[in-house]
This record gives sequence, structure tokens and C-alpha cells, in this order.
Amino acid sequence: QPLQWLAQLKVHLLRKTTYIVMALDHLTSDVQTLDTVRIDSTLSQPLGTSLLLSLSIENLHEVAADFRYDLHKGLENPDESSLRMLKSYVGLPTGEETGEYLALDFGGTNVRVLRIRLDGHGKFEVLKKVAKPLRVEGVYDFVGEGSTAEQQFDFIAELVDEAIEGDHTTKYLLGHTFSFPSEQTDLYNAKLIIWTKEFATAGVEGKVVNDLLKEALHRQGIDNVEPTAVINDTVAVLLAAAYKQADTYIGSIYATGHNTCYFEPFKGKAERPMILNLESGGFMKLAPNRFDAEFDAQSEKPGEQRLEKMVSGRYMGELFGMAIAELLGEKGKKYGFTSIDMSNIILDEMAGLTEVGRIVSAKTGHDLEEVDRQRLQELASALVVRSARLVTATYVGIIWQLAGDDAIKKQHIAIDGSVYEKMPLAKENIMRALSELLGESASLVDTVLENGGSGLGAAIAAAMSQKQA
Ligand code: BGC
Repeated sequence: QPLQWLAQLKVHLLRKTTYIVMALDHLTSDVQTLDTVRIDSTLSQPLGTSLLLSLSIENLHEVAADFRYDLHKGLENPDESSLRMLKSYVGLPTGEETGEYLALDFGGTNVRVLRIRLDGHGKFEVLKKVAKPLRVEGVYDFVGEGSTAEQQFDFIAELVDEAIEGDHTTKYLLGHTFSFPSEQTDLYNAKLIIWTKEFATAGVEGKVVNDLLKEALHRQGIDNVEPTAVINDTVAVLLAAAYKQADTYIGSIYATGHNTCYFEPFKGKAERPMILNLESGGFMKLAPNRFDAEFDAQSEKPGEQRLEKMVSGRYMGELFGMAIAELLGEKGKKYGFTSIDMSNIILDEMAGLTEVGRIVSAKTGHDLEEVDRQRLQELASALVVRSARLVTATYVGIIWQLAGDDAIKKQHIAIDGSVYEKMPLAKENIMRALSELLGESASLVDTVLENGGSGLGAAIAAAMSQKQA
């Protein structure tokens, strides 16, 4: 059965190289329609073309160029760009920042407070770390619609108290990593524009978040802790990475959510050089397929965060589930696939793809034949590959913008997040897309994992706030 053999070869190669797979897809398209399995074979071809093969080198170039265009436009007038281009009022650290600071990391349901000592020369030590979820099912919920700003920040202030072990005398500056789109007027003043990541607490949108924190600290008699800086988590990643290593200008989160910032030198402009939080998850110039479009329409905030909905961990699992529902003739059914399921599915190398079968039947209640398990494995891989290629195109848009008419500089892109760190195929496809887009110059650019940058970055921002004062 030469055609079936080709189909098996295709699955094997998918893990190795996307190019060969593209070519093989043409050759094996007939095989897909010959299958007599539960998955509706007439659906697999459009799936293949819309999800598997949607990002050619030309497509990638277009995304990178459009991103650069939006960056360029956004620098002149953010209203004309799909990027928010939010000012952070902080530049790059020297690496010589020192002292003991408090760092609040508030970017998801798990909130952390750390006491960190910066020792300079890119060195630091975490002296204390406390963490608590803002929601415990059936016990309390400070992120849902019924919760208020006061309740949320009182809970956070209690956590700060734990980190300082009830010491209400020693003076501390606090840096706050607040990972939601915020409009800043200086390093302290950041107003939440809009909640993302399904947060719905009343009374925070439109408010200066550090004022809310300060009031809550005061209510608990913690007047020795002074919040002095608010930064986005992407900015924290960039600060943390640049503290340790020069030549780092781009910071990115590639996790449950997705976003990127970069250091804008504002060459020849009156504006002082600073990091801009692009809120790149909101980038719009993309070619969504029918699953992306449908998913966006059903989401909490339709029309918002279009790139984030195509690439981030939180949403990839849902897209995967939507496609499977259609393939199994159960369109609209929600199975609750997560990006961790996708990761396990992609990693399955067992004969008969038994792990894929186990995961899929646990979620969908259906047993699949091996050929269909292969298809779902391909689908998961294709979604991750598309995600990595799209994210890389945005990085390249920034690299082009930074270089202007000059040659591209040697640099590191600092990335934090579970998709980058743990998702199979993500890193290698970032590297591959970088070389497709940058050619020889790709050797000047690498990516570095900045693990836990949100805490360290907040402490560095607090240290830098002293210099600005
Ligand atoms: C938020 C960004 C944040 C990103 C990663 C997005 O949903 O809008 O501000 O940087 O998630 O946490």
C-alpha cells in the first residue's frame, strides 16, 4: 500500500520538518479521502489546507511586514495601529541595580509576592516568596463578576503582609507586575484599560491600580510599603533578562496569554527612550480560519486579542477541541482540551498512538482508529507550528523596525512562558521561522528563556524608580 506508507511517513516527518510535510500533503491528499473511518474524510482536506498549511514563507513575510507597519504607524499615532503601544516609562537597567525590594506579581489567578535582594552584576536572591490563588472553587472568588476591587486588593495586601512577616516598620519599595493592558502616565500611574484573561472584578477598569493597592495596604496598617512602579509582565521579562545580559531589547510572554514589548530608542524624537508594551495579542492583520472566527465570536470579548486567540496556551486547546468536534460530526460540542493535552498528544511516539487514543477517548467518549489518531496528532502539531510561526513573525517585525535602514544587530529575545518552555515543536519552529525570515542575519538573533522574570523584573523596576525620583 504505497499511499498508506506515504501517509505514515508524513506523520513521522511532521515532527522533523514542516516543509517536507507541505509537499507530502499534496501527494497524500488522495489517501485522506480513501479512509473509511469515523472521522468524516470530506472534512479533513479543508482542515489540512486551512490549519496545516496556512503559513507559507510568503504569508509569514506578510505578517512580519504588517506588524512592522503597525509598529511604525503606532509610534506616530496609536489610533491608526492595531497595537496599543503602551508607554512603560522605564528604560533598560544597567545591571548594577542593588538593594532589597518587594515584588508583586499579579497577572493571573495565582498572585505572588516576593522579597528580593538585588546584588548588582546581574545577580539577585529571592529571600521570601508567598503565593495564593485569587479564586478557590466553592470557597472564595476575587476575579469573578461578583467580586469588588476592595476585596481583591485587600486579599493582595494580606499577601504582602505575609511576605514582610508582619513587619510594619522597615521601609520597602514595591514593584508591581500587573499583566493587563494599562495606560500609564509615569512609572507609578497605570490605569487598567480593560481586563483580559476572563477577569471580571468590578471597579478596577479605569482605575489607577497602585492607588487601589496603596489604599488596601493602608487599611491593614501597612504604611511602610510604598508601591513605586507598575510594569507589564513582558516589561518585567525584558528588565530581568537585560539585568543579566546586554543586547536584549525584546521581551515576550508566550504562555496562557501572549504579548510582547521592546525597547524603543525614539531616535531623533523628543520622547525619552523607553520600553513599549505593544499588547501584541491584539494584533489584527491576520488570516483567521473558520475556527478562529467562530471561536472569537463565542469568546468573552469578540474582536479583541485576535492574535492571542490564535497562538496562546489558553486558546489553542479550545481551537483544537472545536476542530475535533467538527471532525467527529459533533460540531459545537465542548470537550475541554487543554494545551497540556495537545503537548501529550504531540509527544506520543508509541505504536498505535495509544496515548493519543487514551486522551481523545477520555475527552470525547470516542475510540479512534490509528489513522484518525494520526490526524489528530497532525492537527495538534499544526496548531502549535502555526502559533510559533505567527509569534516569530511579530518578533521579526520588531527586529526590522529596530534596525531601520541599518543592518540587524546581534540580540537576544527574552521569552517567558509555558508554551515556549514546554510545548513540543514551539522552540524549534521559532528558530526555523527566524531563519526563514531573516536569512543569514538569523545567526545574530537567539531566544532565551527568562524564567520567573515577573518577580525579578518588578524588583528591578522598584530599584529603577529610585533613580527617577
Ligand atoms: C494581557 C497582556 C499580558 C499577556 C501575558 C494578555 O492577556 O493583555 O497585558 O502581557 O496577557 O500575560
